[in-house]
Amino acid sequence: MTTPTGIEAISLALPRRYLDLEDLARARGIAPEKLTVGLGGRRMSVPDPGEDSVSLAATAVARLLAQTGIERERIGQLIVGTESAVDHAKPIASFVQGLLGLPHTMRTYDAQHACYGGTAGLMASAAWIASGAADGQVAIVVAADVARYGVGTAGEPTQGAGAVAMLVSAQPAVLALDLGVCGVSSADVHDFWRPLGRREALVDGHYSIECYLEALAGAYTRWRSRARGRGLLAEGAGSLPSEHLARVLYHVPFCKMARKAHARVRQADLEAIDAAANEAETALSFDRQVKSSLEVCAEVGNVYTASLYVALLGALRRDADALRGRRIGLFSYGSGCCGEFFSGVVGDGAAEALRKVGVEALLEGRERIDVAEYERIMGLPVDPAPWEEPLEGRYRFVGVADGRRRYAGGRGGPQIVRLS
Ligand code: CAA
Repeated sequence: MTTPTGIEAISLALPRRYLDLEDLARARGIAPEKLTVGLGGRRMSVPDPGEDSVSLAATAVARLLAQTGIERERIGQLIVGTESAVDHAKPIASFVQGLLGLPHTMRTYDAQHACYGGTAGLMASAAWIASGAADGQVAIVVAADVARYGVGTAGEPTQGAGAVAMLVSAQPAVLALDLGVCGVSSADVHDFWRPLGRREALVDGHYSIECYLEALAGAYTRWRSRARGRGLLAEGAGSLPSEHLARVLYHVPFCKMARKAHARVRQADLEAIDAAANEAETALSFDRQVKSSLEVCAEVGNVYTASLYVALLGALRRDADALRGRRIGLFSYGSGCCGEFFSGVVGDGAAEALRKVGVEALLEGRERIDVAEYERIMGLPVDPAPWEEPLEGRYRFVGVADGRRRYAGGRGGPQIVRLS
């Protein structure tokens, strides 16, 4: 029998400021409904240069350690999934290790494949634990990103930033993964990319949506066939295979994408039985299986590698008790591209784990800024970052000195570094 493996605990870090999308729409002279209904968003996180992927990742890991009280020597592996690297060679994982004083016996690396890197880290960690090679140790997987398209671009309302850290172990109190039951679909496409040296992503927006949906259809049908083979789909007459998942969570570049994705999954099920889609049923199924997962996504915007896990937080925040013992599906998509559909069973400790994340407090603790302030922040140079005393328990990038990136903050603020 395979060792149960998956997510034992989870944490979230967000930039301190956000922009309301209705304010952005008015400033750009477009109908607010295009952003709130057409794209499905409400707000987006606005990081300043001090809130880079390292500081967001370190803040999320510090919270995970505080939430779980895990003994540091049990951490055998730290993987950061990101597409917002701060260095061509040195991984974010090493910065986080140093800032938090994590063990030198740990394996550390970053995983990059656009928004898929966090899932790559999760799968590698789960396989390491299930194989027995971890020998009782646990892994930390962080998905950390800054989604930046630039002022006035079509992608502008789909920006955001943040980090989700997950403790992966053989005590999956939050989500026990169905190991080996996954479907992958990958291809060499130019839908979204960021050439070396550029701060802003380049994107072929409408084509990227097509690539996402095609990867989803391929990944989902492969997952479905494996899930059937393992007897995970107790199918009854009149229900589609995807309806046996209590929730289906998607990578969320903007909330409307999840609606398109869910319709595509249902279409794949209907094609298999030569049936046609019914719009009302699709809408009902979206409300039942997907909608609640988008509430946090709508507040923070795209967080690239972390977006799927922000959706997980959204679904569990709302319904962790009702979902206990039930199977959910998850779809991770990284442009370029690689899509993976996988599943897992919500654990007994999910509600308690979510209480510790404190999603409401993190959202409510943010500061609303206006469009002028957002544009000022977007125009700031990367180095040096504007000096701000780091908020309690948070890290900040403060600038480069002697060719090395310096960070401030942390627990009680003992590691503050001032640049001369
Ligand atoms: N009221 C209500 N809805 C309105 C409206 C109004 N007044 N005006 C427009 N809309 C609707 C449109 O009908 C459209 O809905 P549908 O897609 O359901 O038809 C929606 O609002 C968006 O309108 P447009 O397609 O005209 O918007 P756009 O061309 O300005 O850009 C975008 C949309 C392509 C998503 C753009 O924001 C973008 O490039 N975003 C970044 C790329 C991205 O997120 N891609 C997703 C797949 S790739 C991926 O997932 C990886 C990743 O994280 C990047």
